[in-house]
Amino acid sequence: MVQISEVKDTQGKESRTAAHTHIKGLGLDEHGVAKRVEGGFVGQAVAREACGIIVDLIKSKKMSGKAILLAGAPGTGKTALALAISQELGPKVPFCPIVGSELYSAEVKKTAALMENFRKAIGLRIKETKEVYEGEIIELTPEEAENPLGGYGKTISHVIVGLKTAKGTKNLRLDPSIYESIQKERVAVGDVIYIEANTGSVKRVGRSDAYATEFDLEAEEYVPLPKGEVHKKKEIIQDVTLHDLDVANARPQGGQDVLSMMGQLLKPRKTEITDKLRSEVNKVVSKYIDQGVAELIPGVLFIDEVNMLDIECFTYLNRALESTIAPIVVLASNRGMTVVRGSDDDKKSPHGCPPDLIDRLLIVRTLPYNQEEIKIIISKRATLEGLRISHDALDKLASHGSTNSLRYALQLLAPAGILSKTAGRTEILSEDIEECEVLFLDSRSSTKILEQQSGYL
Ligand SMILES: Nc1ncnc2c1ncn2[C@@H]1O[C@H](COP(=O)(O)OP(=O)(O)OP(=O)(O)O)[C@@H](O)[C@H]1O
Ligand SMILES: [Mg+2]
Repeated sequence: MVQISEVKDTQGKESRTAAHTHIKGLGLDEHGVAKRVEGGFVGQAVAREACGIIVDLIKSKKMSGKAILLAGAPGTGKTALALAISQELGPKVPFCPIVGSELYSAEVKKTAALMENFRKAIGLRIKETKEVYEGEIIELTPEEAENPLGGYGKTISHVIVGLKTAKGTKNLRLDPSIYESIQKERVAVGDVIYIEANTGSVKRVGRSDAYATEFDLEAEEYVPLPKGEVHKKKEIIQDVTLHDLDVANARPQGGQDVLSMMGQLLKPRKTEITDKLRSEVNKVVSKYIDQGVAELIPGVLFIDEVNMLDIECFTYLNRALESTIAPIVVLASNRGMTVVRGSDDDKKSPHGCPPDLIDRLLIVRTLPYNQEEIKIIISKRATLEGLRISHDALDKLASHGSTNSLRYALQLLAPAGILSKTAGRTEILSEDIEECEVLFLDSRSSTKILEQQSGYL
């Protein structure tokens, strides 16, 4: 399996910027009122406040099984709002973003793909008391032995791990298999870890704060020296999604023989998760919840460009929202009256959603920006991309933003920066923008040209 957890967080680095990098949250004050310019957001106050209420409802778990639609013209910040919601919810609440068209693939049925994403958006917090050895590593020495099979290599027979807590130290002599998981977690002397006594799995908690001045690594999390004994009972909290549980249980278990390995290679994992497996996982989950071992955390399933879904997906969506464990579904659409995909009659429906779904939605509208707001958004992006821009050029871009689209104006920014640099300047002037207008067309002029040339380029 691909280990996503090992990929280090790259946020906060100014060198790489994506379309929404400047969005840092909804930018509301403690009363839930939108500040005019905050969290990377400018204007769009009503929609931001509505999203703030949604975040509160999600956090207080009053919202599961509900659906929200963000509706508004292209480039009015719907995708940005959804991202801001996920940032406000924090990392512990699952947020699963998809685009409507993603559901269509040759391998997986679209309703199965939808189901998978539904389950990615439902979290489970499992609390377990486990017997662990915990402490700061003061010694980590693998002990080698001659390879029993002969040959030149040496094998590791044991690994000695010294663990220190505020109360004392303990040296453990561990099985070589644990050494592997120690290496996987990239553990070194000075780290605080715990080892589960039953399974031998190793978890890195962080770097001991005694080493806090050593390097100034932003990715590092410093933790205090653990209190109490090295060997103890510890409450361990694990956050997983239902999809994680499906995957973990779908993998062929046990059996190291070739046959089962072949099976593992030949079967794509997606087809292994059957409805039967899911309902079994559900059963165990509800048992855990009843026993108070686990807590359900309904997260958010965000479906961008919802008009790409067809009638079959919508029917499925309607049904899934009724089930006892359902996430909050946030939809976004920039369409007005549109034919629902796959419906037999050509009757149009608002936002490309069938009427029975529209009925149960809470709709949040995003409004077009005025020139002043567009100006602030553009200058925020310019700062983020490390570009300086003159007043004239900013005005010019902002007028593009209101006559064409905000996105077009934002997209001209980077090429204009390159033009100004080529001309040996450090600031974007209006002549750079003019040159860009010639080089890159906006959608309207492009459409016009196509119409004039009757569809041929
Ligand atoms: N209120 C805002 N404040 C700051 N930046 C914004 C705001 N609204 C939109 N943006 C930025 O403008 C760009 C376009 O917005 P976004 O992609 O969210 O539009 P959208 O409504 O999802 O459009 P579409 O319907 O085409 O998907 C993004 O880079 C976004 O971060
Ligand atoms: Mg969008």
